Amino acid sequence: MLDFLDIYKKLDFLPEYLRVQYTNFIIKYFHKVEYRLTLEEIFVRLKADEPIEYIFNLAEFGECQLYVDNRVLIPRQETLELAKLSLEYIASQDNVRCVLDIGTGSGCIAIYLADQLRDRDISFYGIDISKDALDVANINITEYKLQNKIKLIHTDFRDLEFENLSDCMIVANLPYIPNSRKLPNSVYKYEPHIALFGGMNGDELITELLNKIKKSENIKRSFLEIDNGEIIVI
Ligand SMILES: C[S@@+](CC[C@H](N)C(=O)[O-])C[C@H]1O[C@@H](n2cnc3c(N)ncnc32)[C@H](O)[C@@H]1O
Repeated sequence: MLDFLDIYKKLDFLPEYLRVQYTNFIIKYFHKVEYRLTLEEIFVRLKADEPIEYIFNLAEFGECQLYVDNRVLIPRQETLELAKLSLEYIASQDNVRCVLDIGTGSGCIAIYLADQLRDRDISFYGIDISKDALDVANINITEYKLQNKIKLIHTDFRDLEFENLSDCMIVANLPYIPNSRKLPNSVYKYEPHIALFGGMNGDELITELLNKIKKSENIKRSFLEIDNGEIIVI
């Protein structure tokens, strides 16, 4: 039986808000890793700033539990808000037939949407420039048995042709952090830089996507996460 107080005390190297969060996480999910990790090993890796999600290979995204490792960004709370807002929009529209999740990473957005919209005739596309990220997305899509709903496409979104699409919408959480911004060790050391940094100003990729969307008449609506977790809808 895991002792909450004992774990909490051993996490004294963490800031207070993380101690409670991580104690709960360890107690909730330890059974998933105990065959390969001891509590002591977990504490050592946390001390080295490794995110708990990579240690457990597990991230919560709303009701979804996703496999993650250092090939993908750990899904964030702000992105769940983006997914929820997109879901609200799609649920209110009869004529959305396709959703492009640009920069799919772990597949969190596409999986969250496709899982909630299983009874709708919508094709989801998870697009990413990183083959490594798509391998992780594929693990999650298979786990959720969504292979017939979500197709993965390995490409730079800048090479995509929007002209051939119809009744499509876009949800995108592309990298938006300026290259020179200092990040906490747990992020800089472990998360893939291709998922974090968007260029000198940070917004270069998002601006390119916006320009592509503006030129296309086939995209119904787009939901994009930008810096500070803000969401723009166009
Ligand atoms: C901020 S992460 C988002 C991952 C996931 N959607 C999430 O919200 O957790 C950005 C993703 O965009 C991908 N990416 C970066 N540049 C890209 C490009 N030019 N075309 C397609 N994907 C790109 C990265 O590989 C990464 O997986």
